Amino acid sequence: MGMVESPYSVLKKTPARYRTVHFQQIKDAGGKFAMLTCYDALTAAIFDDAGVETLLIGDSLGNVVQGKNSTLSVTMEDMITFSKAVVAGTNRAFVLADLPFGSYEASVEQAVTSGIRLVKETGIAAIKMEGGVEYAEHIKALTAAGVPVVAHTGFTPQSEHVLGGYRVQGREDDAAQQMVDEALALQDAGAIMLLMEMVPAEVSAAVDQALTIPTVGIGAGNATTGQVLVWQDAFGLNRGRVPSFVKQYADVGQVLSDAARQYREDVLQVKFPDSEHSF
Ligand code: KIV
Repeated sequence: MGMVESPYSVLKKTPARYRTVHFQQIKDAGGKFAMLTCYDALTAAIFDDAGVETLLIGDSLGNVVQGKNSTLSVTMEDMITFSKAVVAGTNRAFVLADLPFGSYEASVEQAVTSGIRLVKETGIAAIKMEGGVEYAEHIKALTAAGVPVVAHTGFTPQSEHVLGGYRVQGREDDAAQQMVDEALALQDAGAIMLLMEMVPAEVSAAVDQALTIPTVGIGAGNATTGQVLVWQDAFGLNRGRVPSFVKQYADVGQVLSDAARQYREDVLQVKFPDSEHSF
């Protein structure tokens, strides 16, 4: 099935390939766009065909692909392997990937080297980097080197040990102003988008209003330009704990479980393979 045009898209024509400029046009026209995480070519092709504008190879792959309880052990090699697969599965989506923990914090040079490597070896169009204004110089240098940066603020999972675990950020009295100031600094540094994770809806709304660049939210209310979810959480493959801000759109886990049970029964009863499925 080909991609179905959305009546809610504010772009006059669906681009052959989404680029930074299209997300700016969407923000300028007061529109919205969707982002999903993705880690392999077959799933990427399905999401791309469904019209999802952006696919993120998140370092959440540490949790939902590698079965770890954090993103901290994800390596640059992991990001390269999964990013290549996602790029191979897409035609239209804008594909971006996380710089993993330990690949950019030490210096501006380290960030530029890692960012260039990720783009060069995978074909992604941008990198995402967790952290605030302390990374403004990194963003400037990456952008100057030809690597577009999506800044990720609010709850930043790579800093979970500093932040004291998974918790909503920006609940202090002056949080909105602080986040707006930080977001403006990241925009000035050249960030092409700002992603906010687990922040109160009114705070992310204030940030979106203050910025000219598009914003993306996850657990951040509906005022942001885009929304992102980890697909295994939203579509029911993750049968463990799922954050409360995630809406369940499908139960893929149940579909797979039913198929696996049926397959096993057929094998045990010698119903598979039958003559139709034999040479
Ligand atoms: O790693 C990831 O998947 C992310 C999203 C949760 C935004 O950063």
